[in-house]
Amino acid sequence: MTEKIDFNDENSNTSNNPSFDSVLQARLSRRGVLLGGVGSVGTAMLGGAGLAASGVAVAAQPAASTAGKLGFKAVAKSLADTVVVPAGYTASVLYALGDPLTAGTPAYKNDGTDTDYEHRAGDHHDGMEWFGLDKSGKPSLSSVDRGLLAVNHEATTDEKLSSFFLHANGGASTLPRPAAEVDKETAIHGVSVVEIKKAGKKWATVPASSFNFRLTALSDNMQLTGPARGNALLKTKHSTDGTKSRGTLNNCGTGKTPWGTFLTGEENWAGYFFRSATDDAARADKSVVALKRYGRSQGAASRHGWESAGSDDKYTRWNNSKLGTSTDGSDDYRNEMNTFGYIVEIDAYDKIKAARKRTALGRFAHESAAFGKPVVGQPLAVYMGDDSRGEYIYKFVSAKSWAAADANPADRITTGDTYLDTGKLFVAKFNSDGKGDWIELSTSNPLISGYAAYAFADQADICVNSRLAADAVGATKMDRPEWCSTNVANGEIYFTLTNNSNRRIEPANSSQAAPDSANPRVYSDIKNGSSTQTGNPNGHVLRMKEGTAGNAATSFNWDVYLFGAESSAAPGTVNLSSLTDDQDFSSPDGLVFSPSTGIMWIQTDDGAFTDVSNCMMLAALPGSVGDGAKKTLSYTKADKTTVSVDTYVGKAPGDDKLKRFLVGAKDSEITGLCETPDGKTMFINIQHPGENTKMADIADPSKYTSQWPGNAGYGAGKRPRSATIVITKNDGGKIGT
Ligand code: FEO
Ligand code: CA
Ligand code: CA
Repeated sequence: MTEKIDFNDENSNTSNNPSFDSVLQARLSRRGVLLGGVGSVGTAMLGGAGLAASGVAVAAQPAASTAGKLGFKAVAKSLADTVVVPAGYTASVLYALGDPLTAGTPAYKNDGTDTDYEHRAGDHHDGMEWFGLDKSGKPSLSSVDRGLLAVNHEATTDEKLSSFFLHANGGASTLPRPAAEVDKETAIHGVSVVEIKKAGKKWATVPASSFNFRLTALSDNMQLTGPARGNALLKTKHSTDGTKSRGTLNNCGTGKTPWGTFLTGEENWAGYFFRSATDDAARADKSVVALKRYGRSQGAASRHGWESAGSDDKYTRWNNSKLGTSTDGSDDYRNEMNTFGYIVEIDAYDKIKAARKRTALGRFAHESAAFGKPVVGQPLAVYMGDDSRGEYIYKFVSAKSWAAADANPADRITTGDTYLDTGKLFVAKFNSDGKGDWIELSTSNPLISGYAAYAFADQADICVNSRLAADAVGATKMDRPEWCSTNVANGEIYFTLTNNSNRRIEPANSSQAAPDSANPRVYSDIKNGSSTQTGNPNGHVLRMKEGTAGNAATSFNWDVYLFGAESSAAPGTVNLSSLTDDQDFSSPDGLVFSPSTGIMWIQTDDGAFTDVSNCMMLAALPGSVGDGAKKTLSYTKADKTTVSVDTYVGKAPGDDKLKRFLVGAKDSEITGLCETPDGKTMFINIQHPGENTKMADIADPSKYTSQWPGNAGYGAGKRPRSATIVITKNDGGKIGT
């Protein structure tokens, strides 16, 4: 990863927002011996024939305590090219890149010659949600043996422009890109919906199901809804009235609405757009400020060079430069980038219904979208993070109050219109006393209406340029907010903050920030015995308890539930949660509470600890905000003066309440999680195995850094493939208990 430009790790917040004045001489936590081992006794490796769980269908059960303990033996860290689960569990591959979604689509050859990705699983499986079906094919909240998986396909494994595993010879690494390669690459992005079914004890996809569909980066008629619909900022040659967009892109985290639709977050879309080196002068308006804030300075190269593949506007749309002569952008794609970066609502049960990009929920590098507990008669709240270094945490509060009848509406997506197009958008400010404020992003806030750096025209402008509005009100710069999820037991909201290489004791420039109470650690981590990673390389998990107004609250209490660290790291400054060898992890990303068991599942997307272990998934039984203690971290500046940062550390989990459950294949990220309503079948995604393979080695599979899942007996070929796996407990019980 280090030698590549990482388009997933973008950084463009140079605002001068408050951070606490702190510093220090970084304390090196040197790695001693490698902890953990490979293929230890008492674990089960994925591959070969799988036992499955009990075939007995059980109706949905309420959130259950698990007797306060996790009921499995932790797995060791692993560097093996396989998926490791605890003894007594079975994992099987269910749905991988290229798998057919129609009866007529040929099996995946996995040699770079496959085409027709509009009818196949896309790449880089990410967030995922379950939608049950009963025996007659009607939506069901209780079915445990038939359903739909709605799966995000975030991106591709690429180097030098090309998604090289998709092309026979690795593809073209110079401009212009061949149209045939670009057509494949645009089609593997987006979302898939696939029917799955349990026959006997084995789960399988239903390739011929009429429920199956794909949305790609080119799908037509994605409706732009909410305050920005029809706004001048959204007008393009494709939609001269600014009401629709083509496709969805870089789909990362997910959410599920209380009315039964799928939410997908568009994350690192900015990197897909090209801007000419003279575009600032061509525009000569405030859009230059907005483009820069969203990571597209003039002269920016695009991730794949899709704009170079021909004159058809399915290619030229990726050129975000002002090329036309119109005043409103209706004759070019200068505004195309403004049609990406949203939470998109999709009815997984109905491929005919147009998807909706919900502009009211703001535009940024969206991860998941988690609802606070719905309460009849009160507004709904949707929590969201913006995953870039130093970006913010947001909340949308609906104008409409929750009505119980909407839990099972006749028309799901129009129900979404009533909750997600009208409401208020807030951004979080974390204070040093363990409290925090939700600040509304509204034209009536003088900090926004009087913001010198950018003149907001209206609420639509705030929705499209949420980052600038959040800058204006002084929101807290976070250590890359990834997924969020709501604790089913008490309604508290958890956020993963994956890492931040820009956290510094003494910031040297405006893209860096000093440690503050909610992002309190600055330290160094040694990788491979030599390279030093500074800032907050291991990340943390923060949680918030809303004030008495619940979903509509404008203040909250917070603490840090868990700090990522190596178990050998300094206990007083780095390993603040006292993690053991069975618990240590780095770079939390995916985060999902199981409604069935109450277990919180933490998934990692890491580059800091990967010399010791592949990415992993842990199970946790957290307590509540305030169950730990205040902790003061002291940092020494270069001039030897000391500054202190107060933070709030959740109660250390102890052996029974946090355990490593799974370790993934080589160079993969663990992400996405959903379960059947009985908690007995779990689906997760293994994303981008082998991502550090060199494009130059495409002809030599022995040099691929992973050959999973082919090496686990799934499918043809040795090229690594992102895939959904299914996990069951051999005794038929609930996962993790
Ligand atoms: Fe797609 Fe921020 O992970
Ligand atoms: Ca993520
Ligand atoms: Ca990630």
